[in-house]
Amino acid sequence: MSTKKTFSRRGALGLMGAAAGAGALAGFTPTKFAIGQQAKVRVGTLLPYSGTYARLGEAITNAMVMRFAQSKEMMGGREIELVKLDSEAAPPKATENTSKLISDNVDFLVGPVHSGVAMAMAKIAREEEVMTIIPNAGADQITGPLCSPNIFRSSFSNWQPGYPMGRVLAEEGKKRVVLCYWNYGAGQQSAQGFKDGFAEGGGEIVKEIGVPFPEVEFQSVLSEIASIKPDAVYTFFAGGGAVKFVKDWAAAGLKDSGIELTGAGFLTEGVTEAQGAAAEGVRTTLHYADTLDNDVNGIFRRNYKEMWGKEADVYAVQGYDAAEMIRIALEATGGDTGAKADMIKAIEGATFDSPRGPFKLSAAHNPVQNFYLRKVVNGVNEVQGIAVEALSDPGKGCRMG
Ligand code: PHB
Repeated sequence: MSTKKTFSRRGALGLMGAAAGAGALAGFTPTKFAIGQQAKVRVGTLLPYSGTYARLGEAITNAMVMRFAQSKEMMGGREIELVKLDSEAAPPKATENTSKLISDNVDFLVGPVHSGVAMAMAKIAREEEVMTIIPNAGADQITGPLCSPNIFRSSFSNWQPGYPMGRVLAEEGKKRVVLCYWNYGAGQQSAQGFKDGFAEGGGEIVKEIGVPFPEVEFQSVLSEIASIKPDAVYTFFAGGGAVKFVKDWAAAGLKDSGIELTGAGFLTEGVTEAQGAAAEGVRTTLHYADTLDNDVNGIFRRNYKEMWGKEADVYAVQGYDAAEMIRIALEATGGDTGAKADMIKAIEGATFDSPRGPFKLSAAHNPVQNFYLRKVVNGVNEVQGIAVEALSDPGKGCRMG
């Protein structure tokens, strides 16, 4: 696989206007300074540091900082420098923000969390051939028809966590399910994954309820669910919205109604403390669980708690592994960030033990990974078993090059 397209800063400059253009020209700094010291490798994060997804961006960043610190801030013989930008999980600002980071001369882009931001970011990253690791956003297209040699994911495709939950409920004989999700790419694709898994059991989706992102007004939705009385509900909510949904569900008296609340695991990731008793017993599927019993996870969780004073979650795992992918790329080239084809080859071939279990990438650059059935017990996402082993995204339409 090669990076054939010629590098063009022009696209980014056009978007940024003249003022940023001066900055971009100043950005053509040679890698080596005259005195023989090497410039730092610049890692630009486009992540939400405000709004409903703020705690997700924070966990990703914290774990990256931890991974860099474990390597004493040196990878491939070069120092690492983080350049942070708040995406606000706002798709309309994504093009400008991505261009800003590229003009700021970053060697790697890491981000985003929100699929809508990812669609804009990936377009520019592909054109500009910037090495990019997506530490969350699951937009299926990015490891599907819009796949690109220089773009990798350390997280999941939106389809992935949905499919196993659909399979689990189908196998348990659940017949009538309502889907309820934030109505944008991530929620819709998550719901599609669920439907694909659930269809195999012959059940019926009795209703799909979309809630505009990032709205958290759930009263009418919950009344509707109560009146439909399905066997179960499959949801896609995360961060602040997930806290609110789970608490509102309990407050509306649905917890003991015989309707089971399930979802993509984001519903209970990094938020169980805030959800309190309302989260107890909620089952979800995800590529991570707090109690995964492997050596890497135990050490990872202990170190994270010690460094940041809080429990790690899936977002932290994805940030940690994004930093590990950067390390692998830099070690392969002795820190030469110009050797993109070699960095790409190194990441493509990487297999390592992640806190989530074995990690490797598909040909479309999306993780092939186990999906666990989890249940919240005493505020902890406990693993109940593997729902689907080594699940690969269908990756429809990906042609690299
Ligand atoms: C997404 O927009 O792709 C997204 C956001 C938050 C999550 C998962 C996926 O927890």
